[in-house]
Amino acid sequence: MVDLILYNIGQLVTSKELDESKKMDNIEVLENAYLVVKKDKIVAVGTGEVPREYFSPNVEMIDLTGKLVTPGLIDSHTHLVHGGSRENEFAMKIEGVPYLEILEKGGGILSSLKATRNASHKELIDKTLRSLKYMLELGVTTVEAKSGYGLDFENEIKQMEVTKILEHLQPITLVSTFMGAHAVPPEYKENREEFIQKIIDMLPEVKKRNLAEFCDIFCEDKVFSVEESRRILTAAKENGFKLKIHADEIVSLGGVELAAELGTVSAEHLMKITDSGIKALANSNVIADLLPATSFNLMEHYAPARKMIEAGIQIALSTDYNPGSCPCENLQFVMQIGAAHLKMTPKEVFKAVTINAAKAIDRQHEIGSLEVGKKADISVFDVPNMSYFLYHFGVNHTDRVYKNGKLVFERFKRV
Ligand code: NIG
Ligand code: FE
Repeated sequence: MVDLILYNIGQLVTSKELDESKKMDNIEVLENAYLVVKKDKIVAVGTGEVPREYFSPNVEMIDLTGKLVTPGLIDSHTHLVHGGSRENEFAMKIEGVPYLEILEKGGGILSSLKATRNASHKELIDKTLRSLKYMLELGVTTVEAKSGYGLDFENEIKQMEVTKILEHLQPITLVSTFMGAHAVPPEYKENREEFIQKIIDMLPEVKKRNLAEFCDIFCEDKVFSVEESRRILTAAKENGFKLKIHADEIVSLGGVELAAELGTVSAEHLMKITDSGIKALANSNVIADLLPATSFNLMEHYAPARKMIEAGIQIALSTDYNPGSCPCENLQFVMQIGAAHLKMTPKEVFKAVTINAAKAIDRQHEIGSLEVGKKADISVFDVPNMSYFLYHFGVNHTDRVYKNGKLVFERFKRV
């Protein structure tokens, strides 16, 4: 006996990969399709009439009247938990003050650092719950969340504890990343070596408390050098963390090449990736996680996605939601910029926020595609197809969202 049948689906993006290639458009898209769910898993996917064997008096049957259905969207790069906001810096940015200059003057990450240190667990939980609610309503069912606004033992732990608590307070799955190396805090400005050692010393404790699965670092001019990044990421690997790296966001330092050398799960941002970086990634299994809403908001240029796709690199798209470079939780908007400014095709965009985003957080065996045996994380959009979703931008297309087979959001209540 099954529990739920979604039928009369106009377009079903299963995101199942049709071959072993790394191609960005090799995903399955079905027309006039159905999905069958039992408990929290997908048990059948097909087209045309729903086979009668699934019918029973207790099954819930939902006629989706030609709508678009996709795997629950995955936001694979966010700085989710933080205190405060930085609208004051937005005016400076419009006047042309560069991001790294604002950071050097004690603004930027360092201003969010103060606000986060001053916030209690409860304040951070309440603020973040609002963001997660927006995300769920946008069709997002899994979110990666980085620490990095505490930058000392107590406050980094606080941020990650908040992430863990939030898992129990709302439906979205959270994947936690320790990013103690997000910036050097003011108290260590003259003694960065000691700070780097502090971060390395925190790794076993973070692991012991099971507070994070990944470790990330901001490898950037005036932040952490390639050598420092290598040291911290190598120590993280030895402590059992999976690796991520913020690389080539503002200045190209060689962080991408380091990602390929260390075999990180993902390399993120890549707005300034060079030809040598593209070559290094193309010869690796590293997922390139691109964040075009950050380019949009920093008023900077976009990552060369087409060049990367043509080189055979696997791309994910995510929001980078954070209080400075991208105060925006909207992954649908990111997808629309992915189409308009990264020149990605509809299949490429949907692959980037489903199966490839799952790969960027090492969850591809559980989520990211609608295949028999995978989790029934399903988003329904009130549009006829992928192209329409990307073309009609700036509005929320979500109709309903299922998490582990349960309805967790419904936009237009049926009478
Ligand atoms: O991904 N690059 C580093 N971290 C964030 C920005 C953080 C901030 O400005 O607060 C980013 O863009
Ligand atoms: Fe980021």
